[in-house]
Amino acid sequence: MTRATILARRDDAVASVDRRIFGTFVEHLGRCVYTGIYEPEHPTANADGFRLDVVDLVKELGTTTVRYPGGNFVSGFRWEDSVGPRDKRPVRRDLAWHSLETNQVGVDEFARWLALTDSELMMAANLGTRGIEEALDLLEYCNHPSGTALSDQRIANGTTEPHGIRMWCLGNEMDGPWQTGYRIAEDYGTLAARTAQAMKAADNDLELVVCGSSGSGMPTFGDWERTVLEHTYEHVDFISCHAYYQERGGDLGSYLASSLDMQYFIDTVVATADHVGRKLRSSKQIQLSFDEWNIWYLDEHRASDEVNNEWQVAPRQLEDTYSVADAVVLGGLLITLLKNHARVRSASLAQLVNVIAPIRTEPGGDAWRQTTFFPFSATSRLARGTVIVPRIDAPTYATAVHGEAPLIDSVMTHDDDSVSVFLVNRSLTEPVDLTIDLTEFQVTSLAEAATLHDDDVYAKNTIDDQERVGLKPLHGAELVDGVLALRLPPVSWSAVAAHRA
Ligand code: AHR
Repeated sequence: MTRATILARRDDAVASVDRRIFGTFVEHLGRCVYTGIYEPEHPTANADGFRLDVVDLVKELGTTTVRYPGGNFVSGFRWEDSVGPRDKRPVRRDLAWHSLETNQVGVDEFARWLALTDSELMMAANLGTRGIEEALDLLEYCNHPSGTALSDQRIANGTTEPHGIRMWCLGNEMDGPWQTGYRIAEDYGTLAARTAQAMKAADNDLELVVCGSSGSGMPTFGDWERTVLEHTYEHVDFISCHAYYQERGGDLGSYLASSLDMQYFIDTVVATADHVGRKLRSSKQIQLSFDEWNIWYLDEHRASDEVNNEWQVAPRQLEDTYSVADAVVLGGLLITLLKNHARVRSASLAQLVNVIAPIRTEPGGDAWRQTTFFPFSATSRLARGTVIVPRIDAPTYATAVHGEAPLIDSVMTHDDDSVSVFLVNRSLTEPVDLTIDLTEFQVTSLAEAATLHDDDVYAKNTIDDQERVGLKPLHGAELVDGVLALRLPPVSWSAVAAHRA
């Protein structure tokens, strides 16, 4: 039997939980908006046309911040098209996803949808085809109370109160040659600095996110962050990170260790940001906004013809169906984000509905949970108070991509009432017997113990079998004198919560 131990110490606290770590992302892409969150003909639709069956699932998922409206889409977005009387809104071509945008959902409707889900809006401004003036105009339209041309236009459009959007992204993936209006780092850094300076002149309390690399595999990774931050350091608050993972070539062992790459990404960006900060003799620290992260079968997407030459409204694009293994990797990535919460203060699972998403829908039909829904939802519900990075003593295994990887990964949180521990077992074959020493936390009894595991690691939830995969009780979990004993199944993600005295 494979064994491991974990020691949890109060001294290993890294940060208090900021709910923004459980953000997600809604892009005008495929069926994320149209027939995803919005479908006026659906039996559950409200007066705005939003599906309330989807709203219920979004609330259960526990998302907190939602990035909008893109993504690659934002780099061609004309925000003015998306406000005012719906019958007057133009249909435009979206070059990013080669589809038609009807603008039937825009800034004001989306803010109303967010209110239904108790989430915060994280708005992206278009720095692809547009610039400083349009970003300022959108800011005025959204946030100025009244008495100016654009705030009065918002009021005339039916939204009396300002949206009060605090977090703004300065464009999206501007390092990527696929991006409409992509730039070299010098050019983007200059534009982002001037846009940020102007936006903060309008409202100094905004929190601005400058674009980092669109992936750690980009040839400019590291240099991009350095150059962009040299221009923007004093004007922005966050730098973005984006990462997508998938199993390649049947190498499940490497895939299960994907969070080692996420850790490398975070370490590199933190080191680069701090290097620039020291060089500039700044007293400020830049935080990380991991505002796109997920599993995405990108190789298969690139090889497909789903982005084709026909201009369609809401085509089926990026509708990945996730397996148990995908959910275990996703749960592991969330553990890594929490372990790095001292610097990763905001994150967005990309995306929310249909498009590489934890929630799927059919037009006129059901909405259901993908496998990846479960670790996200349970972590969002249980992670409370302070994050602790526990000391793990576990065997390692060899991976082709990441070198030696620990079989077990874990993070925990605690507040006055409870302790929650999140765990992955990456072993392909072996259960792991684990003891977790929680004696410093005065735990009294188990509150819950659940696991995501299946004998078929490729089992999925589909339209015809929507509840094939879900959380199950983690049998045999015991708490004796402050020490938890668990048996973690192979290829599993688990969450255990205990009451405190
Ligand atoms: O989330 C899908 C796409 O991935 C986004 O539009 C883009 O920002 C990234 O490349």
